This record gives sequence, structure tokens and C-alpha cells, in this order.
Amino acid sequence: MKKMKKQPFLWGSATAAYQCEGAWNLEGKGLGEWDVFSHESPLNINGATGDVSCDFYHHYEEDIRMMKEGGQNSYRFSLSWCRILPEGRGRVNEQGIAFYNRVIDCCLKHGLEPNVTLFHYDLPQALAQQGGWANRDILDTFEEYAKVCFEAFGDRVKLWVTINEPKYYAYCSNMVGNYPPNHHVDFNRYFKTVYHEAVASAKAVKIYHDLQLGGEIGIVHDSSNVEVAPQTKEPERIKAIADLFYNRVILDGAILGELPGGLIPWLQENDIDSSYIRFEDTLTLAQGKIDFLGLNVYNRFYITDYTEGETEVFHNNKGAGSTAKEGIRIKNWYETTIDPTTKRNLWGREIYPRCMLNTLMEIKERYGEIPVYITENGHGCYETPDENGMVQDDERIEMMQGYIDFMFKAMEAGCDVRGYYAWSTMDLYSWVNGYEKRYGLVRVDFDNNCRRIPKKSYFWYQKLIQEHQK
Ligand code: NOJ
Repeated sequence: MKKMKKQPFLWGSATAAYQCEGAWNLEGKGLGEWDVFSHESPLNINGATGDVSCDFYHHYEEDIRMMKEGGQNSYRFSLSWCRILPEGRGRVNEQGIAFYNRVIDCCLKHGLEPNVTLFHYDLPQALAQQGGWANRDILDTFEEYAKVCFEAFGDRVKLWVTINEPKYYAYCSNMVGNYPPNHHVDFNRYFKTVYHEAVASAKAVKIYHDLQLGGEIGIVHDSSNVEVAPQTKEPERIKAIADLFYNRVILDGAILGELPGGLIPWLQENDIDSSYIRFEDTLTLAQGKIDFLGLNVYNRFYITDYTEGETEVFHNNKGAGSTAKEGIRIKNWYETTIDPTTKRNLWGREIYPRCMLNTLMEIKERYGEIPVYITENGHGCYETPDENGMVQDDERIEMMQGYIDFMFKAMEAGCDVRGYYAWSTMDLYSWVNGYEKRYGLVRVDFDNNCRRIPKKSYFWYQKLIQEHQK
């Protein structure tokens, strides 16, 4: 791992291209797989799309200025691959490059460090049609895209992320089936996708280091710290499996530069395809170790012994409108369970601030002194503005304060945390939930020209930052 420069702690907020930009068909942008899914798929139950969303494409100056005024010194956002390379490879869309140049320059003008992700779920449709992440060609295509971005923006962007939540993206696309290409409980495709993401990410890291642009590059993992319920009969065995499945499959490659020991025989024992794993990739992984780890921290995996029944994924996409449970049962491995002592949100997800501390400590124990950014943390809920259009989001404030307190505890215990990003900068499109679930520090009035109105949490965050920058 490269020695990183110590910089001031970064306090920021985050968005992702498809979720906020809008301008889905403007200025040469190609089609993305989410454009097609949201327009055409019967699985897009609520019919919401990111066509306009909060129209960041035309409001970026206002959003960046608000971040600055809110005391933030960094902005995490992603690039839309198909805005830059409309067919996924080959022809570059200069208007797409010009847009991101404007965004980056605006960040720098306002003193915000840009933290830029290359891939945040939105695959160009042209590549999706060729098998997407299940096609090995993606390794070279991703490298080509990464190089275009590093060469265009690397003089000003010094913090890069290759892929956002590779495991969660693979999980939703191939196990839950609620993200395109909507495969359900397909272990073969899940592992193949994760594997290609891990190798593609390593290729991008290597090329970034070779270009010697003087910045740092990492990957963002959805922190999935696994905890085993009391009275579980085989706690060690099932924790090891769950850790492999959720965490090590990405983190060992990215941090240690090698596949998790025992992965291939384990896949074979479980009748899961491993034929795509090539010896030459060992070198790619070894040469592509990240400089820092980004962690999106929301919750933990709370598991117990497998009881009976076929593998099944339970997913609540509809919040209060649904009684569906949330979790997974994997035949002969384990199943998720509910801790009766903790709270859950309306989507059935546990609210568990302590997972911030537990995740950071576990990463430190397993991988040693790796610099970490909390690249996302936040709270999604229904919201109703008051008569002045203000959202009094005390629930969000309480939640985020809890997670931040645990982050400080981890830092006191020696974890090298370098920054924290609230998810999200403003209200935006939520994958599959559309616009009913809000995450922003700033409210977006979608019925009124996407007017921005800071929420109570925006001012709380501003104050918190001021206090910690003293
Ligand atoms: C993680 C993802 O990176 C982001 O896109 C998503 O909207 C948030 N979690 C909230 O679910």
C-alpha cells in the first residue's frame, strides 16, 4: 500500500450520477442500463425514473455552493460511464467531459475536495447487452473507461474510487433481482460478477498508479459486518461463510491483492461455477492494491444457523406499503435473523449505529492499518415538510449523531478514519424506491422546479463540522 499524505479530515456528502443528474438524454449521453430498466421493466413497480431526478445537471452550482456554505470540504460523486463513453467504449462524448470539468472546477473554486467514483451501479446499456459484468470483456472495457477519466480529470481529482459497493451491486442484480439485469438467486452469476468487479477494479488501480498523477485510489465496500446471534450452534462456521460471501470476496482482493484463501475449492464444493477464474488474474490483483478503503455504513448482518427450506431472499422494496420481511436464507449455510433488542426502519432494515465501531474495528483487526473514509452514512425515511417547506428531520439527526459518535470511538481506538460523507447531499432517486424514500440533508421540491430547501439536518451537520474543525 502506498503511503498516503495526511490531510485535514474530510467532512462531506455524497451522490451518484444516475440518482441525481437527470438529463438522461441530453448532450450526447448514451443509454444506461438504469434508463432502460426504469422506462421498460415491469419490475419497476412504482414507475419512477432518474430522467430528471433533482436535475443536478442544471443545479450543480447551487448544490456545490450549499455544500460549501454548510461547512463541507469535500463532495463525493460519481461519473456516468455512458455520458462519457456513450457506447461504453470507443467514442468519447466531449460534452460529457465538459460537464464533469465544470463540476470539478466548481468544487475546487468552493474549496471542496472532489472524491470521484468511476462506477456507481449505472452500466452503459451497450455493455449490458453484451453480458455486462458477467462477460470477461468488461475487464478491458473498464480499464479503457478508467484511463479516459484519469487523463481528463486526474490533474484536479486526487481522490478516486473504482467501484461503489461491488458486492451489493452484484447481490441486488443476481440474488435479490431488483437491480438490472434482475437475476434471482443466481450464485454462479453473483460470484462471476463480483470476481470481474474485483479484477477490473485492480486493473484500474494499477493504471492509476502507473500514470503517477499524485492522488489516491480506493474501492467502496458496503460495510457488512457479520454478527452471530446467541444460541447459534455453529457460530464460527457460519460467520466464516458469511464473511467470505459478503466481505472477503471483495476486500481480500482489494486490500491484500489476493483472492480469499480456499475460495475456489469452496465454490467447487458448493457446486458454484469457478471456471472463469484465471491464473493471470493473480498478478493483476497483486498489482492493484488500493490506497484506501471507502465504507458505506448502514447496518450489519445478523445471522444464525440455517433451519430448513430452499434458498430464499426476502426483500422489502416498498417500505410502509409492505409487510414483506427483509433478509436471506441460504440452504445449508445460514440465515439472517432479527435481534429483538434493536429498532428497524419501515423497510425492515435494522437501525444499529454500533455497526460503525464494529465494522471499523474488524477491518483493522483483519487487514491492519488501512486508511478509511466513511463514504456514506445516512437515514432514509418518509418526510413531510412543515408549512414553511422545512423538514424537521430530528430522526435523521439522532441516527447520524449515533453513527458519528461510534466513528469517533473507533478513531480513539486507533482506526485511521480520514473522512465522513453523509448520504445524501440532497434528496434524489432511490434505487427501486424512487422518490418516496428521502435521504437528503437538503430537501428537493420535485413539484416546484426542484427547489432546494435545507433541512434541519443540514444545519445540524454544519454545526457539527464547525465544532470538529476547531
Ligand atoms: C448505498 C448506495 O451507494 C447508494 O446509491 C444508495 O442510494 C444508498 N446506499 C442508500 O440506500
